[in-house]
Amino acid sequence: MSERQGAQRDLIAVGRGFDNWEPPEIDTSVPHSARMYDYWLGGKTHFGPDRALGEVIEQAIPSIKTMARENRTFLGRAVRHLAREAGIRQFLDIGTGIPTGGNTHEVAQAEVPDSRVVYVDNDPIVLAHARALMVSDGPGETAYIHADLRQPEAILAHPALTGTLDLDEPVGLMLVAILMLLRDEEDPKGKVAALLDALPSGSHVVITHPTGDWDPEAMRTVAAKAAESRMTIVPRTRAQVEEFFGGWELLEPGVTPVMAWRPDGEPPADPYGAYYWAGVARKP
Ligand SMILES: C[S@@+](CC[C@H](N)C(=O)[O-])C[C@H]1O[C@@H](n2cnc3c(N)ncnc32)[C@H](O)[C@@H]1O
Repeated sequence: MSERQGAQRDLIAVGRGFDNWEPPEIDTSVPHSARMYDYWLGGKTHFGPDRALGEVIEQAIPSIKTMARENRTFLGRAVRHLAREAGIRQFLDIGTGIPTGGNTHEVAQAEVPDSRVVYVDNDPIVLAHARALMVSDGPGETAYIHADLRQPEAILAHPALTGTLDLDEPVGLMLVAILMLLRDEEDPKGKVAALLDALPSGSHVVITHPTGDWDPEAMRTVAAKAAESRMTIVPRTRAQVEEFFGGWELLEPGVTPVMAWRPDGEPPADPYGAYYWAGVARKP
């Protein structure tokens, strides 16, 4: 291990999930979804290629930054609902993103201080932020796993997960703005089903997904521009997004535009301003 890698490891090798771990290299020469999303959210962890693709996409969808914020705000509403009203005390958040305001553990632990949260992401740059993520005030616990949604079995068997979550008790599974990064050939439905099958009755799943349902041309452009930069973005229809819920009971109001899912305060004047479907479902 190089000196730099050793220093980097020392910086973040804390908490569960870091045993026998070596930091992977961060490739800043190609855009990456976590950093592009951070750019749209007004964060500070992005590089030239992330901003360049972010701006090209913004030309196709001028409201993209608002859309990212709406997606993020929904995440907070959904976690608050699960903690406050659905009795969920443990969360598995896959596709963590670069830490920003209102991270899952902060929202959950503000509602229920002893909530336990396991984050999963496959981006080394998110891993590099894991130390900040894992700080829990109070009795709650937060762990981080560097792993890939395409390998659900590895996630479920990981000691950081089994040491933090009790899979005999209901779990809140967060799949927020991640499924569009998997191509159909990678079987996203099968990967999600493997996770849903592993969770007990009373568990909930929270999903958002970008769609071309109300501006197909713009979304086609986004997918094509992303592909030119070696990034996968697969918009999906409402019917396709509903399939991810695996027949679990959708909470009211069902799969809706993200801004329309139980908004705080007044309903949005134009709920179709953010091209994401969103929903929360409960395992019977
Ligand atoms: C657009 S961000 C969403 C962040 C957060 N869930 C939110 O909605 O605010 C997508 C995240 O998923 C991660 N990701 C992408 N593909 C993944 C995969 N196959 N396995 C695990 N994480 C992945 C990216 O690194 C990024 O952090």
